[in-house]
Amino acid sequence: MTLYFMDGQFTEREELRVSIDDRGYYFGDGVYEVIKVYGGELYTAEQHIARLFQSALKVKMTIPYTEEQLVEIARELTMRNEISVGHVYIQVTRGAAPRTHQFPAATVAPVVTAYAIQNPRPAASIENGVAVKSVEDIRWLRCDIKSLNLLGNVLAKQEAHEAGCIEALLHRDGVVTEGSSSNLFGIKNGTIYTHPANNLILNGITRQVVLGLCQELAVPVEEKPFTLKESFDMDELFLTSTTSEIMPITSIDGRLIGSGTPGKLTRHLQKVFALQIPSSNVGE
Ligand code: PDD
Repeated sequence: MTLYFMDGQFTEREELRVSIDDRGYYFGDGVYEVIKVYGGELYTAEQHIARLFQSALKVKMTIPYTEEQLVEIARELTMRNEISVGHVYIQVTRGAAPRTHQFPAATVAPVVTAYAIQNPRPAASIENGVAVKSVEDIRWLRCDIKSLNLLGNVLAKQEAHEAGCIEALLHRDGVVTEGSSSNLFGIKNGTIYTHPANNLILNGITRQVVLGLCQELAVPVEEKPFTLKESFDMDELFLTSTTSEIMPITSIDGRLIGSGTPGKLTRHLQKVFALQIPSSNVGE
């Protein structure tokens, strides 16, 4: 039995009914978050929920709960579904109304759905590193919003997948932005580079955790764009996300990065990252 959350209630998955008129279907008109669960505990839930509210604000949507209530719903889903390692997915759409592009009447309530799912850490990829494929970034210019409109991301991920790669390395006008569902970091001569958190990338929660760790470790960081050409010459490259954690990149388009194995500084950051996960029982 899997309990989902929808509109104020915990309901069995099979019993859920969503409207065909939900604007999530028609327009991708909604926002979402993915929160990691380690050892039955939510990780950085407050930051994710805060970002959900920021995304909603940017698309002029009101969430009919407080941040605290949504964290509590995520916690309850985790507990009641007995999730040890996995994630919680939360989405809010602008509600169900006959299809017109402009917003529906203010009386139309946003639809909040959420579930928790058991999902092992991608241990082999974290350990061995992954291959990525460079793909042109064709997304809209508000990638800072975690919106349900993910077609640009979906097409990029599929292109990478068909090339036998785990992630697409997106580039716009020659500059590397991020992955299709992750942020990107490069290391050159001991300095860490990553795209600044502007409208061209999602400011990942894991990205922010890693930047915090770098500060604690006094590792120099430059939040500065770098080109696709420069990324081939990085000593190390890694991607970050809620589900991928810190994942070394060992090749782009079949060309090895550094020695083609996870680099020293990446390894160090992985170790320090693992230490601040809320439970020692992180599972695999
Ligand atoms: N994706 N950039 C994009 C485009 C993303 O979709 C994600 C996360 C990230 C990393 O953000 P965070 O560290 O907060 O997870 C960056 C989630 C996991 C997803 O869509 O499944």
